[in-house]
Amino acid sequence: MASAPRPLVAGNWKMNGLGASAAELEKMIAEAGRFNGRADLTICPPATLLARFAGIAKGSPVAIGAQDCHAEASGAFTGDISAEMIADAGGSAVIVGHSERRSYHQESDANVKAKANAAARAKLVAILCVGETREEREADATLPRIERQLNGSLPDHFDARSLVIAYEPVWAIGTGLTPGPKDVAEVHGFIRDYLVARGKGTGEAVRILYGGSVKPSNAKELLSIANVNGALVGGASLKSDDFLGIAAACL
Ligand code: 13P
Repeated sequence: MASAPRPLVAGNWKMNGLGASAAELEKMIAEAGRFNGRADLTICPPATLLARFAGIAKGSPVAIGAQDCHAEASGAFTGDISAEMIADAGGSAVIVGHSERRSYHQESDANVKAKANAAARAKLVAILCVGETREEREADATLPRIERQLNGSLPDHFDARSLVIAYEPVWAIGTGLTPGPKDVAEVHGFIRDYLVARGKGTGEAVRILYGGSVKPSNAKELLSIANVNGALVGGASLKSDDFLGIAAACL
């Protein structure tokens, strides 16, 4: 069996952060050296901070990403930003298909796939989110839901450098609830098998992150589950101590 991919801990700041939050990024960068070669770190601030954060993080072990992109490279799409603009601002990754985009902005699997293809076009890492609702989990419909999302939203071509999957159960986001280790292992194993079957030899190495109420106190347990190759962290990524505490669980 291939060795496990190097873990990635990514912070999704959502609609949080002003200029003063650069101090948190600077603290993360100051500590990031100890993860060098052992875990990758990415921070996805709001678009307003993208260029500033990319400038601060340049040459450091912390990568900067965006939280969403439009599928087109440019055009009359008021308020949107393209994958090319993210790359131009110094970003190297973009989250696509987050459940908050899927539900508040009615993004379909086809939209998410177009965005993932845009990320590949601009040479950004796509962090593609999938996950079931509480109703789906209770109806034993988790794996069919994940399979539909993967069928519909994976980009046309991918490898371990261009794609990261984040499994984020919708009911675990921001609630303090997390699935049990057996449930996490089941879904991550399912996603791994899917990627191996579709990935033309690269599916073993694509990282599969867990996301949803990850914090320093539960990170070790979650990150030691088979096929969990890191975390996508919301609230706890806003504070450098918490974010670094989660990353430390990878070591
Ligand atoms: P929380 O870590 O705040 O639950 O958010 C998870 C998430 O949605 C990350 O994308």
